[in-house]
Amino acid sequence: IATRAPVLVCPAMHTEMWEHPAVQENISTLKRRGVRVLAPTAGRLAGGDTGEGRLAEPADVVAEVVRILAGGALLRPSGASAPSDLTGRRVLVTAGGTREPIDPVRFIANRSSGKQGYALAEAARARGAQVTLVTTVRRVPFAGAAAGVADDLQPIEVVDVETAAEMAEAVLTRSPEQDMIVMAAAVADFRPVQAAPAKLRKAAGVPEIVLEPTVDILAELGRRRNPGQVLVGFAAETEDVVERAAEKLRAKGADLVVGNDVGAEGAGFSHDTNAVVIVSPEGRIDVPLSSKRAVADAVLDAAVARLAGQDANLGKPPAARADWPSPTKEHS
Ligand code: CTP
Repeated sequence: IATRAPVLVCPAMHTEMWEHPAVQENISTLKRRGVRVLAPTAGRLAGGDTGEGRLAEPADVVAEVVRILAGGALLRPSGASAPSDLTGRRVLVTAGGTREPIDPVRFIANRSSGKQGYALAEAARARGAQVTLVTTVRRVPFAGAAAGVADDLQPIEVVDVETAAEMAEAVLTRSPEQDMIVMAAAVADFRPVQAAPAKLRKAAGVPEIVLEPTVDILAELGRRRNPGQVLVGFAAETEDVVERAAEKLRAKGADLVVGNDVGAEGAGFSHDTNAVVIVSPEGRIDVPLSSKRAVADAVLDAAVARLAGQDANLGKPPAARADWPSPTKEHS
């Protein structure tokens, strides 16, 4: 009561208490007085029972604090209702690290867990998109399905792939009908020229594994893109994140590249949180350490803005475009 700072309340209690009219009325009173409330989630509770009442994930609490401090401009809490700004849009997301076979039991892989890609697919779906997820990993069911929540959103189409070549085929055949493609997958840049048909034996000595480049899917998408299509790439880096992301933006013809310092604490591979910088030709947006879902929404906010910007002029003759001077103005 003594503070003039914004107040965030994150309730945690047993389901019966949370649902009690006394608590609900008190929460409404607090909200009416301007207190921000981050509702509890459903899950395991302190008494060993399960239900609604679990403290929101710490990363989501941090994201909400950051959002409040940023004046609500940057991040959306996971409990907030999603904007429906992707309704009627087709969005393709890739997730996970590719595996390039050396022999029938071994492969070249990387540390990507697919969590950020899954969060992007879920966030795009929650915003109304028809989503295709091309992935090398199968993660636990999507949030809606996991919580048993019946919703009328479209199911995500999941396409399983393993290698960079399979991912290239899956993405490039589906790319013409997509409004937005987000390449969150960690695609191998090189693969063994030939996978041995039988298991390599130690007794045969140190094998010589010759590599060749894979198709750069994002660069190929940049060459083939439809007018109005938005392309988003990722750059997993351990140094000079912004410079490298900007380099990739130019080299691959993407609209946005999400630079990710995978060496930073709490960010990158396998973590449930991430911290990124979204680089566009106009500048950069720094997204502080947040849940991967909040990062996904920040990336989609930036991508939707580009979709909207391009759409305004799409299919119109030059004279009718907002960025062209009107003939009447010119003659007057
Ligand atoms: N990518 C792709 N096809 C590849 C390799 C990467 O589409 N064969 C995409 C990734 O999905 C990601 C972006 O390109 O969106 C990453 O760029 P890349 O230059 O491959 O990053 P690194 O592999 O980290 O490259 P470098 O070693 O040059 O930093």
